[in-house]
Amino acid sequence: MAPASQRKLRVALIGCGRQGKVHALNFAMSTPRCDVVAIVDPAPTTADWVRTNISPDLPVLRTPEDLYARYPCPVGGKPSSGALDAVVISTETAFHATLACDAIGRGVHVLLEKPISIDAAGDEQVLAASKARPDVRVVVALSRRFDASYRAAFDRLQSGELGEAFLVKSATVDQYDESGWFVPYSLKSGGIFIDCGIHDIDIARWMLGLSDAQGVRQRSSARVKRCFAIGYNALHPELGRYGDADNATGVVQLTDGRSFTFNLGRTAIHGHECSCEIIGTKGRVFVNQNPAMNRVQILDGHGVRTESTPTYFERFEQAFVTEAREFVAGCLDGADMCVTLNDAVEAARIATGLTYAVRSGEIVDFDQKTGKPIPPRGLVGSTAGTAIVDSQSKL
Ligand SMILES: NC(=O)c1ccc[n+]([C@@H]2O[C@H](COP(=O)([O-])OP(=O)(O)OC[C@H]3O[C@@H](n4cnc5c(N)ncnc54)[C@H](O)[C@@H]3O)[C@@H](O)[C@H]2O)c1
Repeated sequence: MAPASQRKLRVALIGCGRQGKVHALNFAMSTPRCDVVAIVDPAPTTADWVRTNISPDLPVLRTPEDLYARYPCPVGGKPSSGALDAVVISTETAFHATLACDAIGRGVHVLLEKPISIDAAGDEQVLAASKARPDVRVVVALSRRFDASYRAAFDRLQSGELGEAFLVKSATVDQYDESGWFVPYSLKSGGIFIDCGIHDIDIARWMLGLSDAQGVRQRSSARVKRCFAIGYNALHPELGRYGDADNATGVVQLTDGRSFTFNLGRTAIHGHECSCEIIGTKGRVFVNQNPAMNRVQILDGHGVRTESTPTYFERFEQAFVTEAREFVAGCLDGADMCVTLNDAVEAARIATGLTYAVRSGEIVDFDQKTGKPIPPRGLVGSTAGTAIVDSQSKL
């Protein structure tokens, strides 16, 4: 085996759809300290895509079982020659928990796409599996933590120059896609707060000092006290059937009175918008107030304009590369990372609380012992009190 300093992490990618392709390219082409040993996806188009975009020699397998049959897994968490060291899981969210628990149980490090799962049961399963295997690294891909602009804002807060951060206002609104792909996707994604809002929730926790990750110097012992949410189906009322909305707003209050609020959507006309404002006692910072694609300004008969990032791929292109490199370094060197599994679980609990709130129309309290949202009475067996409306409904 190569000396530790020269060793490369042997990684396989499970799931090669929209996001899996981004990871496949980044791990194969932009992460020098790893070797991609296989891509796993049952879709018939995967082999062609891999041949054209990565290499004709890279094995493409249909199932995770095929992967584990082909490569030995580490024994006792120790790297061994030819073994598979890590997997990157980018399947639909509904399969995350089962696939992650399987890999963890085999001693294989995991980079798991966000969110951990579509429901609280899956989140807790992954947490339990990780606790049982402390030798295995489990990182949830909360990609904004790897973005240079969010990091610069965070560093400024941590320096104390903005005083104490007490309010985070965040927005994630995807460019409207007329195909309405996100309607059936809702069933497999957990809904807008779990699928999309998880990033905003995570960033707010981080900025407000609630994260237990390395680098958080201004740490707070506050917990989530309660939350409320409303939804509006501006263009896709059929989403209401799944207890989901194409636009939604959430408010979360901490036990020390500080708060965060965000709006989420799937119907932006100008492009992908992803902005964040953090307000402190001595100042405030904005991240990406103008979702500009580049530094070009157009001055013409329409006024002064910039072209907008069309999707999150362009906005977070470099963050995904940093995420891949830091995950690999974390596995090889045992270095701490900027996000912990606990962060992802806490964010998931808040997203679950907001989903309860939007589906019941009630304020959701959090159990102060467990940190979990308490399902409100209005949630059980009725959609009468839902806080989701559309242009045809009346409040
Ligand atoms: N971090 C981010 O900003 C970000 C952005 C987009 C998507 N995501 C996450 O990435 C995940 C995937 O989303 P997507 O849009 O790429 O979905 P997608 O539907 O485009 O791709 C999912 C792929 O998984 C494959 N698959 C399903 N079951 C499998 C299995 N058992 N083994 C191997 N492959 C399997 C499917 O064939 C498909 O190709 C989701 O969890 C989503 O939340 C994260």
